[in-house]
Amino acid sequence: MTPVRLAILISGRGTNMEAILHAAEADDYPAKPVLVLSNRLDAKGLETAARAGLSAVSVDHKAYGKDRETFERALQSVLVEHQIEMVVLAGFMRILTPWFVRQWTGRMINIHPSLLPKYPGLQTHQRALDAGDDEAGCSVHWVTEGVDEGSVIAQARVPVLASDSAESLAARVLAEEHKLYPKAVALAAEQIRSKKKPLPV
Ligand code: GAR
Repeated sequence: MTPVRLAILISGRGTNMEAILHAAEADDYPAKPVLVLSNRLDAKGLETAARAGLSAVSVDHKAYGKDRETFERALQSVLVEHQIEMVVLAGFMRILTPWFVRQWTGRMINIHPSLLPKYPGLQTHQRALDAGDDEAGCSVHWVTEGVDEGSVIAQARVPVLASDSAESLAARVLAEEHKLYPKAVALAAEQIRSKKKPLPV
């Protein structure tokens, strides 16, 4: 079966993106990354993507001021131009409008560094430490209009150690993200492929 054409949206270093690109080298991977799109011109992940032979495009959100939807219409035209069938948010640090989310309902997933529904939003590791949690982790979920609220596809857990700082906990969770996200992308891509919905326009 033909792999699903994938865009990965990033804002920074792009280590989750790299993990997906690596997994997608397998012949039977159900998704084919073709585009990496960043809202920051200086995102380190853009260089990695270009070196891997993908289209690496940035659309600077700052150029659009507070007009989120016009920024997203610019993103959307790049996605449509590349005939993208599935969007993967990998450290993409912009909140999306309902308009954009609706274009990609059932075709867009996100990774979040907490065990959702715990700790949506920012500073997840510090919040887990402050709460005295004995485990932390990461979640991959379908993207819906509520931030970090869509149904969970997969999660991975790590223990919280007495010696942990937010940084050490983040590093332990990130190592799990790199294992979890490529698997969850494959699961979601299989579902999208089997439903054969028309492409977003
Ligand atoms: C990851 O830890 C990801 O879970 C988090 O940003 C990091 C990106 O790292 N995402 C969020 O916090 C989204 N709310 P990466 O650029 O190295 O993949």
